[in-house]
Amino acid sequence: MTAWQTREVSQTRHFASDNYASVHPEVLAAIAAANGGHEPAYGADAVTAAFDEAVASVFGADALAFPVFNGTGANVVSLMALSPRWGGVVASEHAHINVDENGAPERVGGLKVLPVAAPDGRVTPASLSRWQGDLGDEHRAQPLVLSVTQSTELGTVYSLDSLRALIDAAHEAGMRVHLDGARIANAAAALGVSLAEACGGADMVSLGGTKNGAMGAEAVVVLAADLRERMAADLPHLRKATMQLGSKMRYASAQLAALLTSVDDAGDPLWLRNARHANAMAAELRAELEPLAAAGAVAFTQPTEANAVFVEMPRTLADELRQTFRFYDWMPGSTPETVEVRLMCSWDTQPGDVERLGELARGIGGVHDVTNGP
Ligand SMILES: Cc1ncc(COP(=O)(O)O)c(C=O)c1O
Repeated sequence: MTAWQTREVSQTRHFASDNYASVHPEVLAAIAAANGGHEPAYGADAVTAAFDEAVASVFGADALAFPVFNGTGANVVSLMALSPRWGGVVASEHAHINVDENGAPERVGGLKVLPVAAPDGRVTPASLSRWQGDLGDEHRAQPLVLSVTQSTELGTVYSLDSLRALIDAAHEAGMRVHLDGARIANAAAALGVSLAEACGGADMVSLGGTKNGAMGAEAVVVLAADLRERMAADLPHLRKATMQLGSKMRYASAQLAALLTSVDDAGDPLWLRNARHANAMAAELRAELEPLAAAGAVAFTQPTEANAVFVEMPRTLADELRQTFRFYDWMPGSTPETVEVRLMCSWDTQPGDVERLGELARGIGGVHDVTNGP
């Protein structure tokens, strides 16, 4: 045994990212079940065939799936597939593709991201007009693709009606629509709908697995029936050329298949159980911080609709909480003494973690929860 194998692992579940969470045991079991013997590489294996079947039953017989390594890769492959070389991709100013991919859509994909204001992370149909005037102008990147994120980077969720209206408006404007579904499970769980419905009619989705309990697996899923034939021919080449083709694909496919098909006694699939739990923990966390918000010691900056809580707090409070829990600063606060932080819950966040953070925050903030007494 080497040192890292025998190290003491802290059981504290942090609030930094759903990527901090461990792998769900049902996913690990699926990987173990995929292990052993030789299987054809590059996706010509029985496990990937099972994942393809699961995709057909969840997203419809026209859907086509391509497992990839990570979310940035899924986004870049999708956007490249949907856009010509001269295309621009309209997206929220807060979109992961705009701010957190080190410019990969531009550098790797050769596509310009065209940001629009989205104070709560949701793009509106009206904001599409920001770039529409550039259509046909040879000097300007052509706004031919809209990318939306569901649930959004700010922890909000498009309602089905608003997402459909946005996607319809984009289609009417001649755009294709990509959906960054790194947290599509959290959105579907929050809305009480299927994964397919939560996509709202998008043409292609980056289907998230890693934040939903997988070890590390995502997939590009083509949803639009009219794209199927072309994508079946083109996407294998694009995925390889962008270095997102895994050779031992059965292990990625096993993770994704487990999320879609591993059901409990009530018949609920793993993706739903994990997302529902993470969302419930975020709601609890917000409730824990409510007394501080009511006393004006902190301020929520976004509604909590999925698995994240965004809250502005004094830097001193954030620093003290960080003695116990990790979490990210998101934006500078409204004064130099404050900071907006993101508190993210995961499939493995426990009620005790949430209560502990709440008690610590209330203790440091000098605010006592009336229901718990002083
Ligand atoms: C909205 C969103 N999209 C995509 C990703 C995927 O990122 P990665 O390339 O780290 O898997 C993330 C991860 O933080 C995300 O939050």
